Amino acid sequence: MVDNLTELPGVGPSTADKLIEAGYTDFMKIATATIGELTDIEGISEKAAARMIMGARELCDLGFKSGADLLDQRKTVWRLSTGSDELDRILNGGLESQSITEFAGIFGSGKTQVMHQACVNLQCEDKLLMNEGALNEDELKEPKAVYIDTEGTFRPERIVQMAESLDIDGQKVLDNTFVARAYNSDMQMLFAEKIEELIKSGNNIKLVIVDSLTSTFRNEYTGRGKLAERQQKLGRHMALLNKLADLHNCIVLITNQVAARPDAFFGAAEQAIGGHIVGHAATFRFFLRKGKGDKRVAKLYDSPYLPDSEAIFRITEKGIHD
Ligand code: GTP
Ligand code: MG
Repeated sequence: MVDNLTELPGVGPSTADKLIEAGYTDFMKIATATIGELTDIEGISEKAAARMIMGARELCDLGFKSGADLLDQRKTVWRLSTGSDELDRILNGGLESQSITEFAGIFGSGKTQVMHQACVNLQCEDKLLMNEGALNEDELKEPKAVYIDTEGTFRPERIVQMAESLDIDGQKVLDNTFVARAYNSDMQMLFAEKIEELIKSGNNIKLVIVDSLTSTFRNEYTGRGKLAERQQKLGRHMALLNKLADLHNCIVLITNQVAARPDAFFGAAEQAIGGHIVGHAATFRFFLRKGKGDKRVAKLYDSPYLPDSEAIFRITEKGIHD
């Protein structure tokens, strides 16, 4: 998607071309860019960059909002059951729209399974919880999911198996789930950008999944020298996901790998990848770990409005449940 960049203050056709050539094809990318990034483009001064960014932020509605507007927006929040009542309970009812929920954990901890279950539950009416009277009738009509798969672990057979155990049509779930395999971070970011187009062409996208958020970035940006660049890009990706959640009342779920904490003297020995950029952009953060047999423990932490707490659930052939 290419926006008409000449709508921005101080941008004529030739500057617009330069911006597009440098990859700044739409207002959102400019709104979330830094002045330093834009002044890297030849012929753009600091002052001009600042004006463009401010202009783009206004067009993207990234300015001030009144508290009353925010309260109205909060009223349209809806929830999706994870499949486990325990897990839903510590989330205050289920996975929440207008926010990003992160599931971090080691391999086999169940992150991908939770993502598959969310796609299935989205097609199950009694797994959707709405604020009474606050949603318009069409809001959750024929909801669809987008699954950005960076590790090649999306399994349609597993979706069908989970759906059948809930007595819903597995084919219907697959029809309503767009899957995109991203082989690198550029593809991953591009797919996230394309979601806007899917919505514009009439798909009621209500669930966006990135599984996993950080593996491509981690592979491509190795070493200290690349860290700043990686974080900047990751920050832009998170900003876009947040915008989707906010503007389209979507649930956004991300999975994340963990790394050993070098300074783990107190507290957990592992932490989620991505640092503050990911931590601050995600509203709800979970740490998953394996328990006995098919049991899994999910720990909710760092939430701005919910207490730290733990839930135990199971992963069986039926899917995620208590
Ligand atoms: P990575 O992506 O490797 O970091 O792991 P992950 O956290 O995404 O783990 P994933 O969700 O893939 O969980 C895999 C685990 O789920 C397996 O070890 C099994 O315990 C369980 N699991 C997956 N599929 C099935 C299934 O069909 N039946 C049962 N009973 N368990 C399953
Ligand atoms: Mg996985």
